[in-house]
Amino acid sequence: MIVMSEQRIKILIVDDVAETRENLRKLLSFGQGFIVAGEAENGKEAIALAKRVRPDVVLMDINMPVMGGIEATEAISVEVPTTTVIIISVQGESEYLREAMAAGARDYLIKPFSADDLVNTIRRAHEMDAKRRLRFAPVPIAQRRTGRIVTVFSTKGGVGKTTIATNLATELASHARKSVVLMDLDLQFGDVAIMLDSIPIRTIADIAKEDEIDSELVEACLLTHKSGVRVLASPLRPEQAEIVTAKHVEAILTLLAETHDFIVVDMPQGLNDITLTALDAADKILLVTTLELPAIKNARLCLEIMEALGYDQDKVKLVLNRSSRDIGLSIEEMEKILRRSVDVHIPSDGRVVVPSVNKGVPFVASAPSARISQTIRDLARVIGDGDADTVAAAAAVATEGAAAAAAATAGVAGAPVAAGDGRGRGARRRAGISGRIFSIFTGG
Ligand SMILES: Nc1ncnc2c1ncn2[C@@H]1O[C@H](COP(=O)(O)OP(=O)(O)OP(=O)(O)O)[C@@H](O)[C@H]1O
Ligand SMILES: [Mg+2]
Repeated sequence: MIVMSEQRIKILIVDDVAETRENLRKLLSFGQGFIVAGEAENGKEAIALAKRVRPDVVLMDINMPVMGGIEATEAISVEVPTTTVIIISVQGESEYLREAMAAGARDYLIKPFSADDLVNTIRRAHEMDAKRRLRFAPVPIAQRRTGRIVTVFSTKGGVGKTTIATNLATELASHARKSVVLMDLDLQFGDVAIMLDSIPIRTIADIAKEDEIDSELVEACLLTHKSGVRVLASPLRPEQAEIVTAKHVEAILTLLAETHDFIVVDMPQGLNDITLTALDAADKILLVTTLELPAIKNARLCLEIMEALGYDQDKVKLVLNRSSRDIGLSIEEMEKILRRSVDVHIPSDGRVVVPSVNKGVPFVASAPSARISQTIRDLARVIGDGDADTVAAAAAVATEGAAAAAAATAGVAGAPVAAGDGRGRGARRRAGISGRIFSIFTGG
């Protein structure tokens, strides 16, 4: 239920004519529950004042010197989103009115209007906005939720995010017996449903279509996979992705975290409003990379950005997928470039992964004894226990052999390898790759 505030509605009056401002004050005094928090003579003043006093409602004239009401409405809607703008205009300004509404105004009044018209319009617009804000309240996640959000992310495509996310969620749901939602945030080209051989009836787009979002709506849009994982699928068509905004994602994550143990989020590559919202809300970010040059370069940039965003070192876990492949770069070299060590090694195993993808059966279910499944199991156990610090240790046990094999082929990490030093062409090739990466970051 939505509880409306009993406090008085704080109003800012914006009009270039002093007499009009005075009249509005008088009309407002007929209604109860209003307080005039300030007056401005033009749009520019209005923006500055709105930022300072954060009024609930701005009564905005359209035509004013210095800066008009439409431009000011747009700025206030963006910069003080908790403020509701109501436009005051005269007959014959209908073209302006359309523009004002598009700029973010909630309602309008056409002169002359009565005190009742004014009071009712303010109350109605303020109430509607308050309801809307309550629905999309900014992350009260920290106070209310119990579930943990794990995002599987990369800044490079095709590194194995969906493979890891689907198997991790399946493992958590089936073996760890947790209530798990797998959310497909790859909104344009999500693969989660197909990887689980499922056909969604409803998707995240069906949630985004609604004005109000609550738990029942979100639950009604989940499908249940036979492993027990509840899936929130991405839209059925790429163009439907547009209707899903960061606010929706924030609200959905908040609601899901209130009712489930884990929310595993399969992310698209790249940083934008939506991915940043999910990353902010996450308890753990699994940053996936492979031993390939572009993936490493992007992982490093991503780690730098996450540090700048103030994310805890422990919040971000570095996952090296296909870590057992010898592709000319050692894990040590990569760790040196990234200035941190790999937390989780996932081996390469095309013979297990590819048929699993094609059949739509997660490999933790179809090949539970494979080493790659064991790695996911260790990852799930550690995430499930909430003991993040042992992620590395647990995963390393399962992949010891792989890491050792890769390390054995690596040469001396970071040290320049002279031609003819007896270590052969492979070592020289690796030194070249390493040099290229260093030059990317040193600008050389
Ligand atoms: N450990 C692995 N061993 C062998 N093959 C793998 C492994 N991990 C992923 N793959 C294969 O790599 C391909 C890409 O994986 P996936 O779709 O999970 O990547 P992604 O990061 O989600 O890609 P996108 O950025 O397009 O969403 C898949 O075809 C999968 O079969
Ligand atoms: Mg994917």
